[in-house]
Amino acid sequence: MEEREYNFIKYKVRKLLDVDLNAYKAPQVQRRLRTYLLRSGYPNWPTFFRAIQDDPKALSKLRDYLTINVSSFFRDTEKFAYLRDSILPELLRTNPRLRVWSAGCSLGHEPYSLAIMLSEMTGPYRVHFILATDIDNSALDYARAGGPYEADKVANIPSNLLSRYFRVTAEGEYKVIEHIQRKITFQSHNLLSDPFPENIDLLVCRNVVIYFEQDVKTQLYRQFSDALRPGGILFVGGSEVLSNAAALGFESAGISFYRRKV
Ligand SMILES: C[S@@+](CC[C@H](N)C(=O)[O-])C[C@H]1O[C@@H](n2cnc3c(N)ncnc32)[C@H](O)[C@@H]1O
Repeated sequence: MEEREYNFIKYKVRKLLDVDLNAYKAPQVQRRLRTYLLRSGYPNWPTFFRAIQDDPKALSKLRDYLTINVSSFFRDTEKFAYLRDSILPELLRTNPRLRVWSAGCSLGHEPYSLAIMLSEMTGPYRVHFILATDIDNSALDYARAGGPYEADKVANIPSNLLSRYFRVTAEGEYKVIEHIQRKITFQSHNLLSDPFPENIDLLVCRNVVIYFEQDVKTQLYRQFSDALRPGGILFVGGSEVLSNAAALGFESAGISFYRRKV
C-alpha cells in the first residue's frame, strides 16, 4: 500500500473512529484493510469513507474489524489451569478479595472465565473487583449482556461449570447467569490514551498488545507494571514474551505470567 494512501486511511480512521492506527503493526493492518475494501464493493478509500461516514453501524463494523475481537473461554486451557493452581492461591493468600483487570476483554469470554474461576475457588459470595475494559463498545455491550454465546463457543467449558454458570436460551445458545454478570464492571477504555486503574492484583492482557508496534508495547508494559501492586501478576497471551521484563520491573512467575517486583 502506498504511503500516501495509508496516511489518508489513518487520518480518516482517527477522525471517524478515534483509533490511532500508528500504534498498530502496519503490514497486518494494511493486509486487513485491503481485504475489507475488496469485500465492501467500493472502488477506493475516498468513496468508501464517504459512504460510511454518517452510518454508525458501518463505522462500528469497521472498528470491530480493525481491532480484532476473537476470543474464547479459558483460552489456552493449560495457562488457566496454572492460574488456578499456582497464581491465584498465592494472590489470595495476600489478599482475600482481589482486584482483577481484564484489559482488551473483547466479547467477555476472558473476564467471565476469571469470574467463574474465582467463584469456584472462593465461593459464590466472596466479592472481588473484576474490571473488564475494551475500546470496542459493541463488544462491551455484548459482554455486559452475558452473551449469548453459540454452542461451539462454550464447547471447552467443563460440563459442571457450563451447567452452573450458564443458562440455555430458546435458540439453544448460552448466556452467563446474572449472578456472574454482576461480578464484572465493564468499561470503555482505550489502552493508548486513557488513564490506568491502580493497585491491581491480577492484570490480564492477552492477545491485545500483539497488534501494537514494539515501542507502544514497551510503553504499555511499563504502564501495566505501574498499575499492579508490588507482587501483583501480569498474565499475557500464549505467544507474548516480555524480553526486557526485568527493566520493566517484572520477574518471571511461570510461562505467560510476570510478577511485579516487590
Ligand atoms: C483478540 S481480542 C483479545 C480478547 C481476549 N483478551 C483474549 O485473549 O481472548 C483483542 C481485543 O483488543 C481490543 N483492543 C484493540 N485495541 C485496543 C485499544 N487501543 N484499547 C483497548 N482495547 C483494544 C479489541 O477491541 C479486541 O476486543
